[in-house]
Amino acid sequence: MCGIVGYIGKAAAPPILINGLRRLEYRGYDSAGLAIIEEGKIIVAKAPGKVQSLSNKTRDEWPQERFANISLGIAHTRWATHGPPTEVNAHPHLDQAGNIALVHNGIIENYRSLRSKLEAKGHHFLSETDTEVLSHLIGDRYKGDLFQAVCDALHLIEGTFGIAVIAASEPNKIIVARRGSPIVIGIGEGETIIASDASAILAHTQRVIYLDDNDIAIITADGIDIRDLHNIPVNREISELEFDTGAAEKAGFAHFMLKEIHEQPDSLRNAIRGRLDFNLGSSVLSGMGSSPRDLAEINRVVLIGCGTSLHSGLIGEYAFEDLADIHAEVQQAAEFRYRNPIISRSDLVIAISQSGETADTLAAVREANQKGAFVMGLCNVVGSTIARETGRGIYLHAGPEISVASTKAFTCQVAVLLMMALKMGRSRRYSRQEGMDFARAIEAIPALVAQVIEQDHHIAQIAELYYQNEHAFFIGRGPMYPVALEGALKLKEISYIHAEGYHAAELKHGPIALLQKGTPVIALANDIPGKDKTLGNVEECRARGARILGIITSGDHEAAAAMDDVIEIPACHPLVATVPTAVALQLFAYHIARLRGCEIDQPRNLAKSVTVE
Ligand code: G6P
Repeated sequence: MCGIVGYIGKAAAPPILINGLRRLEYRGYDSAGLAIIEEGKIIVAKAPGKVQSLSNKTRDEWPQERFANISLGIAHTRWATHGPPTEVNAHPHLDQAGNIALVHNGIIENYRSLRSKLEAKGHHFLSETDTEVLSHLIGDRYKGDLFQAVCDALHLIEGTFGIAVIAASEPNKIIVARRGSPIVIGIGEGETIIASDASAILAHTQRVIYLDDNDIAIITADGIDIRDLHNIPVNREISELEFDTGAAEKAGFAHFMLKEIHEQPDSLRNAIRGRLDFNLGSSVLSGMGSSPRDLAEINRVVLIGCGTSLHSGLIGEYAFEDLADIHAEVQQAAEFRYRNPIISRSDLVIAISQSGETADTLAAVREANQKGAFVMGLCNVVGSTIARETGRGIYLHAGPEISVASTKAFTCQVAVLLMMALKMGRSRRYSRQEGMDFARAIEAIPALVAQVIEQDHHIAQIAELYYQNEHAFFIGRGPMYPVALEGALKLKEISYIHAEGYHAAELKHGPIALLQKGTPVIALANDIPGKDKTLGNVEECRARGARILGIITSGDHEAAAAMDDVIEIPACHPLVATVPTAVALQLFAYHIARLRGCEIDQPRNLAKSVTVE
C-alpha cells in the first residue's frame, strides 16, 4: 500500500519520479506528491487524486528549464490510512524547520503520543497523518547529520515503515529505511533509484538490493551504505530482476486486468513448466525442500492468506484432503496470530500471497515460525518479504500483476497448490497411476483456460444482460464453492455491485430471502460430484424469479436446460475445473465493470498490496 520512489543521479529528477509513481500507482492512488532540493531549499508539489493530477501540476508550475539540473528527489503515491486523501495529507511531509522531507509507507502506531510530546515542545502540525509526526521527530533530532537523526527517530517508533528522507542542508544523499514495508534500491551507472516496488526501478536498472527489516541506508549517486539501526554496517546481496519493462505495459489491452486475464495460458504454462514428473506421477517442487520421508511426517496442512489468496487456499484445502489424504484447513491470516492457533512441528503452514508483502500474512508467517511449524511461502513477487522470511517455498512465475483485482496470480496459485497436493499425495496413498493421470490433468490447464478466453466475446454479450443489477449471488459446491467466493469478490471489487458467494446449500438458510424477480444468481454447476444438488438449488432460485447464469460443462444439456444463460467450461477433473471456471468469472466481472464505466485497474478504496494490519 502506498508507493515510494526516490532518485539521485545525473538526470532531471522530477520526470523520473513522476514516471516511477505511475508504475506504482496500483499501490495507492488517493493522492501523490514529490519533493526536490533547489538552491538550498526543499520544494514540494502535491495533488489529491491520481498521479496525473500531480503531473499536470508540476508541468504547469515547474518549467522544465528550471528543474533540468535538479537530480535528486523523493516521491509518493498514497493510500490513505490516517486522514482523508487531501493535498495537505499527501506526502512528502516536512519537519518544523522545512529542512527535511519524508515519504513513508506503513503506520506509526505510537504517533499520537509522539505528536503530543512534540506539540508540547512547540511543534505545529499541518496534517492529520502519522507520517508528519515522523518528519517532525527527525527534524527534532537533527544536529547536522541526517543519517543519525533518522536513526535516532526510528528508535522511538512503534509500527511499520518504509521511508525515504532528504534534507536541504545535505543535498547529496537520500536516507532510506525499512521495517515491515519494502524498500528496493536500484543500482544504475552513476545513478541510484529507490522504490517500494521493483516495477518502478526496471526502466533504469535490473541490479537491485532489497533492504531487510531495520536496515537503514545512505544513498548517493554512486554509493550505497547499508547499516542497522545501531550504525553497524550490514551486507546485502545484489539481485538481478527477472522481468522486463514490457511485461508491465498494457500491450494493447484496454486495461491491465484484461491483459492479465488473457495472459493466463502463458502464466500458467510458466507456473507448471518443468514441475510435473509424468514418470513418477508426481511433481518436482524443489522449493518444498523436503524428502518424501519428511513430507510423509506432515500431519496437517494449514493454508493462510488474505483476499483472493485466501480463496486459492480454500481450493488447496480440497486438493490436500482429496489427493493427499491429509487433514487440511484454511485460516484467515488476519486472525491467525490473535487466536493463538494450535500449531505443531508436524504442521505444514503454507503462506499464500501474490505480493509477498501483505502485513497480516507476514504476521501469521512469523507466528507460525515462532510455533515451530514447517512454513512455506507461495508468492509471486521474487525477493518479497514473505518469500524471504519463509526461506522455502514456491514462486508462481505469473509475471508482474498490476491490476488491483488479482487474476493470473490466483490461477497460478491454484495450479501450484494442485502440484503441491500431488507431491504430498504421492508420499501417501496416491498411486503412481493416479498421480500420472492427475499430472496430465494439471498439464491441460493452460489449454482449458485458453478455451474459456476464446469465449471472451460471448461472455461480454452475457454481461450486457446483467450489468444493470445492483446485487448478485454466486453459488457452488465442493471445490466450486471457493470459486463462487472468488467470483463474487471479483465482481464486487471492480464493478461495485453487491455480490455474495455462498455454498449452494447455504443459500436457502437465509440469503434466498433476498431473491426477487430478476436477481442474478451465478450457479457453478459444472459436471462434478454434487451437480444434481446444485441444479436443485438452481430450481429453488428460479422459483423466486432469479435470473440464472450457469457455468456448466460443455455439452451438458441437462444443466443448460436449467439456466437462463450459460458459459461452457471444457470437461476436466473437478479440481482442475476450478481454474477455467474462475477465468470465466473474471471475464464476466471485467465486462460488467467496463459496461458500468468503472475504474477497472484501480478500484476505489482498494490497494494492490495491503501492508498495514
Ligand atoms: C489486497 C488486494 C487483493 C489481494 C489481497 C492479498 O486486498 O486488493 O487483490 O488478494 O490484498 O494480497 P496478496 O498479495 O497477499 O496475495
